[in-house]
Amino acid sequence: MEQYIIKGGNPLNGEVTIGGAKNAALGILAAAIMADDVVTIENLPNVRDINVLLQAIEAIGATVDRVSDNEVKINGSTIGCLNINYEFIRKIRASYYLLGALLGKCGKASVALPGGCAIGSRPIDQHIKGFEALGAKVTIDHGTISTSADKLIGNHIYLDVVSVGATINIMMAAARAEGKTILENAAKEPHIVDVANFLNSMGADIKGAGTDIIRIQGVSKFKKTTYSIIPDQIEAGTFMIAAAATKGNILVKNVIPKHLEAISAKLIEIGATVEEYDDAVRVIADKRLGSTQIKTLPYPGFPTDMQPQTAMLLALSNGNSMVIESIFENRFKYVDELNRMGANIKVEGNVAIIEGIEQFSGAEVSAPDLRAGAALVVAGLAGDGITTVDQIHYIQRGYENFEGKLQALGGLIERVDVEDEKSINKFKLRVG
Ligand code: UD1
Repeated sequence: MEQYIIKGGNPLNGEVTIGGAKNAALGILAAAIMADDVVTIENLPNVRDINVLLQAIEAIGATVDRVSDNEVKINGSTIGCLNINYEFIRKIRASYYLLGALLGKCGKASVALPGGCAIGSRPIDQHIKGFEALGAKVTIDHGTISTSADKLIGNHIYLDVVSVGATINIMMAAARAEGKTILENAAKEPHIVDVANFLNSMGADIKGAGTDIIRIQGVSKFKKTTYSIIPDQIEAGTFMIAAAATKGNILVKNVIPKHLEAISAKLIEIGATVEEYDDAVRVIADKRLGSTQIKTLPYPGFPTDMQPQTAMLLALSNGNSMVIESIFENRFKYVDELNRMGANIKVEGNVAIIEGIEQFSGAEVSAPDLRAGAALVVAGLAGDGITTVDQIHYIQRGYENFEGKLQALGGLIERVDVEDEKSINKFKLRVG
């Protein structure tokens, strides 16, 4: 088992280049199987979630040609099997995007039902509501969700909950339905727009993605395309917070600054300097930052996927802050770990009440999920002394070469085997 070992205290300085958006890539890879031709996807992040989804896509018979770490060619013309088994769903919930993609393409699909996960119960009732509205029959039997339709017919669908997953799943199925679908109260995240743009590049007719009403005119066939995925908003946000937490100066390159506005605004509010360029942002913090209130909301609100990293920063700030988590009910699991590093955070229901401290002290902590794991790593880099972070497989789900990028910024961090005392001692000797 691997862990990160970190010696904190160095401000992070320099430049970092952000990779393709994981959450856009998950939708795009699933949608790619809907064409009966070669689809080329560029700027693919080389992270575990993506690699598992590619295995699931191969397991249903599509041809997957991994041209390089960041490029793949997928040919969906060879698809044979329409069942996605639990092995994949267990590892990555977003395998359920294959439900919408296969339903749209073949009129039929079965996927093992995703369970809850580390951050909450995560129902999929809105996905089901959408498929049924398009005329599909949906059944749940022995832990598997199956859907089929002789013909999908466009409809007017109103989502009761703003859901990224349901918006993408319904958009994929409706893109191949007969007639027009109007999807109201749709999610507006940047990756919704990216999946819609990708589907359009294969010949779909989708308008309004990025607003809360998406209009989809079904088409009968998709064609080949080459598509480059947008930059990852959350990876970028994590490095912005890392600059602020370590009192550093980082130029975060290959980003769309508009997607980062909610994060930039909070950083500016608490006293950091944020400079925006065409495709980069620079974050500078040379002093201890101030406190604020944050409530997570669907885009363009403050992203729940940035909540742990930001709460960690506020735990180091001057004064008292409050963070309200309104999307997932169980997203404060990291608080106990951060408190072991000296943070003073109390959680009541979906609210974290934070009393800022001067500095974290290094400790042995464990990543409870992907984003919280990243927050703990940055806490270690900002803190005093040695921190080890266990369960880093969560972090590898969504951050490509996290330790390499942090090292290039001057962070003293190494990925080591928990059992490998020699490497651990070598690191400790090197960092003093
Ligand atoms: C996606 C992101 C995840 C991010 C989340 C919110 C991917 C692969 N994952 O997750 O990183 O944290 O958006 O921005 O893109 N809900 C229902 N019924 C449903 C669907 C959702 O009640 O059928 C609820 C959920 O429990 C949650 C809220 O809606 O409270 C938002 O969930 P959703 O937007 O669907 O999140 P995901 O697509 O799972």
